[in-house]
Amino acid sequence: MTTGTPQPPIDTSRPHSARVYDSLLGGKDNYPVDEAVARQLPAEAKAGAFQNRAFMNRATAWLAGEGISQFLDIGTGIPTAPNLHQIAQGINPRSRVVYCDNDPIVLRHAEALLISTPEGATDYVHADVLRPGTILDAARKVLDFDRPVALSLLGLLHFLPDDLDPRAIVRTLTDALRPGSYLVLSQGASDVNPERGEQGTAEYGKGGIRLALRTRAEFAGFFEGLEIVEPGLVTAPEWFRSTPAPDPEMSGVYVAVARIP
Ligand SMILES: C[S@@+](CC[C@H](N)C(=O)[O-])C[C@H]1O[C@@H](n2cnc3c(N)ncnc32)[C@H](O)[C@@H]1O
Repeated sequence: MTTGTPQPPIDTSRPHSARVYDSLLGGKDNYPVDEAVARQLPAEAKAGAFQNRAFMNRATAWLAGEGISQFLDIGTGIPTAPNLHQIAQGINPRSRVVYCDNDPIVLRHAEALLISTPEGATDYVHADVLRPGTILDAARKVLDFDRPVALSLLGLLHFLPDDLDPRAIVRTLTDALRPGSYLVLSQGASDVNPERGEQGTAEYGKGGIRLALRTRAEFAGFFEGLEIVEPGLVTAPEWFRSTPAPDPEMSGVYVAVARIP
């Protein structure tokens, strides 16, 4: 992040997805407009937010354990401990992490994402995922793209309806990564509990936020040509590696980690 990055104004007249998510997680960096949406969402949305966050923790720890020491996280959200770099650097202090989000409130709180170990590095890019080239150019200043990178877009795809062509965006990003890199995605499901999904979509819609829940097959499309690792494309609580699976828990969040061949 360039020192002195101008702080864009925070619009409190309408809800923003980062702040609604913060409200769902019990955070304090949101406004009454955001809280009003969060309150109207079905209970599954709150559970999904926690499940999604817990998946991020486990997937990052797994990747770090596999020797991945470079991370590019797009749609980072308002800092929520532990943040991705804290997990990665807790395992390998030399880990380098670039965060990116387009919401001014995330930029305002980005300092919390920039407290790195001395051996590693963290950076924050204020940019829109709709401009993947800009993000890659900025990330190259901190990450070495000749070595594997774990690219994560968590809880972001369902804010990118199909007319924005999110598959092409993900493809542009993964095409920039060398073999042995990883793609980590999570996405709200439209076919786990369709009624609740429609309710959630309607509530976000009232606040002007377009929600694009997807079926399992639609989510699988983001991984075309990549090698999904065990335990496969599953719901967030089911994504476990060495730790035992929790009691079966209903979840409307699909997740997967894939290796770039
Ligand atoms: C639900 S939060 C997920 C936060 C975090 N990744 C997690 O999984 O805990 C979605 C984030 O995506 C960001 N976002 C939405 N649209 C975006 C866009 N077009 N470009 C970059 N970030 C975006 C929002 O600002 C928000 O912080």
